Amino acid sequence: MQPEQPPANGRAARPPDRHDPSDRLRQTPEMKREREGRAAAASAYDGPIARLVGVRKAFGALQVLRGVTLDFRAGETTVVLGPSGAGKSVLLKHIVGLLQPDGGEVYFQGARMDGQPEGRLRRARRDIGFLFQMSALFDSMTVEDNVGFPLAEHTTLSGTERAQRVREALATVGLEGTEKKLPQALSGGQRKRAALARAVILHPSLVLYDEPTTGLDPIRADGINDLIVQMRRDLGCSGIVVTHDLQSARKVADRVVMLYRGEIIADGTFGDVERSDDPYVGRFLAGRYDPTVDDAPAAPPPASAPAASESKR
Ligand SMILES: Nc1ncnc2c1ncn2[C@@H]1O[C@H](COP(=O)(O)OP(=O)(O)O)[C@@H](O)[C@H]1O
Ligand SMILES: [Mg+2]
Repeated sequence: MQPEQPPANGRAARPPDRHDPSDRLRQTPEMKREREGRAAAASAYDGPIARLVGVRKAFGALQVLRGVTLDFRAGETTVVLGPSGAGKSVLLKHIVGLLQPDGGEVYFQGARMDGQPEGRLRRARRDIGFLFQMSALFDSMTVEDNVGFPLAEHTTLSGTERAQRVREALATVGLEGTEKKLPQALSGGQRKRAALARAVILHPSLVLYDEPTTGLDPIRADGINDLIVQMRRDLGCSGIVVTHDLQSARKVADRVVMLYRGEIIADGTFGDVERSDDPYVGRFLAGRYDPTVDDAPAAPPPASAPAASESKR
């Protein structure tokens, strides 16, 4: 039998594990109590991690979500595919209460999110990591302060304890040693990694990824896909990945849903969606442009006649 070797690249062998007693030792009693409370609440609830029921949202005359009903199952990574402007980011923002629906209901772990006071949303958001579309790091703050920001906001950990947690989170995403750098000194892929470290530093139950691979070359994109798979496997968190990157969807998804013109038009495994007989799904997966549909303005909400999108996709 081989003796255990430290990893050749010097990276941490594994990310912190909430079930490992040696990792638990690094938590304050307050964090431990809070985690146990959350674990108890989560184990008492075995429904979908997030749920949309008949969610409608318009901006002025633009109907973005037209009654979206969708359960996101716990422990799964669900990919939401759809063209630019389909409302994918809008959908994610409803889950964390950054946008309010015009109609319908939004739940996180069985608790209502729409129409809730800010204090209640804040507590729920502590358990949701959000990787924003443009990484959204604070330019004037070091990587360490960016990644440690949720700890400063939501915990009473000391500076030394925070630094230790940040070091671990950076090792998890392969960015060790970048603590003192400013975001502009990082490449696009590294900024995504730093933003991901920040999104998961509180070990959330759900991570929302908004276009995690957009703007990256295929190799760096694949590195981010690996991390998404790793987050689910090692931290046990559920994921919702919004993207139009098919390669990414194929790699990370347990389930794929497609959002088009405000509605869910496909739902299943990647293979199921590939076999969909919806004409738009087929064109999207094949990357086949149709100028009569793709550059036409979105159909207005149906009045008496069925929506134009019904007739041709
Ligand atoms: N806060 C907002 N105010 C007005 N329009 C918005 C707002 N957020 C999104 N939109 C519009 O809603 C549509 C869907 O946006 P978005 O969810 O960002 O699309 P995507 O699927 O590319 O993420 C777009 O036409 C966008 O311009
Ligand atoms: Mg978007």
